[in-house]
Amino acid sequence: MYDDNPTIQHLVKTIDPMRQGEVLDYKAQSGADNGKRFYIESFGCQMNFSDSEIVAAVLHEAGYRSTLRMEEADLILVNTCSIREKAEDTVRKRLYVYNKVKKSKPGTLIGVLGCMAERMKRQLLEEEKLVDLVVGPDAYRDMPKLLDSAEEGHRAINVQLSREETYADISPVRLQSNGVTAFISIMRGCDNMCSFCVVPFTRGRERSRDPYSIIAETRDLYDNGYREVTLLGQNVDSYNWVHPETQETVTFARLLRMCAGVHPEMRIRFSTSHPKDMTDEVLYAMAEMDNICNYIHLPVQSGNNRILELMRRGYTREWYMERIEAIRRIIPDCAISSDIIAGFCTETEADHRETLDIIRRANFSMSYMFYYSERPNTFAQRNLQDNVPLEVKKRRLTEIIQLQNTLSLEHNKKDIGRQFEVLIEGDSKKSKAEFKGRNSQNKMVVFPKIPGLRPGDYVHVEITEASSATLRGHIIQNSAL
Ligand code: SAH
Ligand code: SF4
Ligand code: F3S
Repeated sequence: MYDDNPTIQHLVKTIDPMRQGEVLDYKAQSGADNGKRFYIESFGCQMNFSDSEIVAAVLHEAGYRSTLRMEEADLILVNTCSIREKAEDTVRKRLYVYNKVKKSKPGTLIGVLGCMAERMKRQLLEEEKLVDLVVGPDAYRDMPKLLDSAEEGHRAINVQLSREETYADISPVRLQSNGVTAFISIMRGCDNMCSFCVVPFTRGRERSRDPYSIIAETRDLYDNGYREVTLLGQNVDSYNWVHPETQETVTFARLLRMCAGVHPEMRIRFSTSHPKDMTDEVLYAMAEMDNICNYIHLPVQSGNNRILELMRRGYTREWYMERIEAIRRIIPDCAISSDIIAGFCTETEADHRETLDIIRRANFSMSYMFYYSERPNTFAQRNLQDNVPLEVKKRRLTEIIQLQNTLSLEHNKKDIGRQFEVLIEGDSKKSKAEFKGRNSQNKMVVFPKIPGLRPGDYVHVEITEASSATLRGHIIQNSAL
């Protein structure tokens, strides 16, 4: 499953904008059709997928409509990621593919959006002349203007970062939606400056979105049949909104309670939590409200204190384990997942063994695992030596993946015989006779259909089989019939 770098496997997906017409156009945008079509692909994290939905809304408003076929597009867009070198390599390859299409249809515009646009700026326009339009993550409102100028033959660019932009007033056009689950961005940017990470440079300063616009979006989704939202931020625990006039303050714990209050049948998830900032207050909100899912993604990165310090993560191994214990104490049935980086600057075999050890102790239900990829202008690139040889990084990564797979399997096997409430998301990948959905712990559950049920319904499933990635079972009772 994981070849060279596992990232690409789980992070890279392609959006299917055509489905818009089926289930997602619930907020049909007002702009009159200008006859032009856009095609968009997204790479990177959930934030980027969520941003593509903002871009789609801005373009709809300007009269553009989406197409699934690159060949018929007047505008080909790619929303990009810079987190690791491979993520950027993937995008570069795609640019050549788009340019082939452009050759047979001159006049087609090619635009690079997102983190790579922000990191590389003008360089993207100049290098090899593959791109007509470069738009950073805080400049999407400017796209209609930039497109006008690109159509006149000028190379258009806006990579201005903002301290305020949260796109709070834009109703996203849901792309590739299953009509049941959706992402909501609650904040943008990151103020943390972990030494390996490019995000603070590509996304700018942290800012929190108006909670009332988040609640309105959640309610609107509920009214349109959605039953789960994932609140997105690089560090959701530092969400902090202050009303400009009344000084009313909303913390993440309060926001969670407000969102969960929209409807008991609307599930709330969130990502990503930061170990240095996750408070017990958030855990108590999760424990008290049934519709806040029992699942926390709490990236540890490394199990060694010296490496954590070099990474500038702001916590120690002991602090991290105390947070894990707090989760287990306050929410006994909570699954915890993680991100791990193998082979960071100066990492020794002993340091690596401490990472394996903390994975075992924390007993993650799953992890996203990477080997270190040096990124331009980060603290690590400027001050530390990327001195772990590639073969060693890869071998350590393999050991981490093997351990995690074993733990995930053990974790899932313990679920055999248990019953879970599952929200049906759609047909399983393999068979139209089966549904798939997730339990509160974010585990994928597959089970045979019974008539009368449909995506968006909650069912109770008894687990009979488990692999490291999926649970299988059968419905024992359902609330919809
Ligand atoms: N805001 C989140 C992470 C966002 S990036 C957090 O702080 O946890 C997602 C993951 O990519 C990170 O958790 C980290 O494990 C990985 N990552 C980031 N920069 C990387 C780099 N230069 N090389 C390898 N992995 C990296
Ligand atoms: Fe990057 Fe650290 Fe911010 Fe996460 S918290 S986005 S790893 S700087
Ligand atoms: Fe990638 Fe940017 Fe997300 S660098 S991981 S797309 S914030």
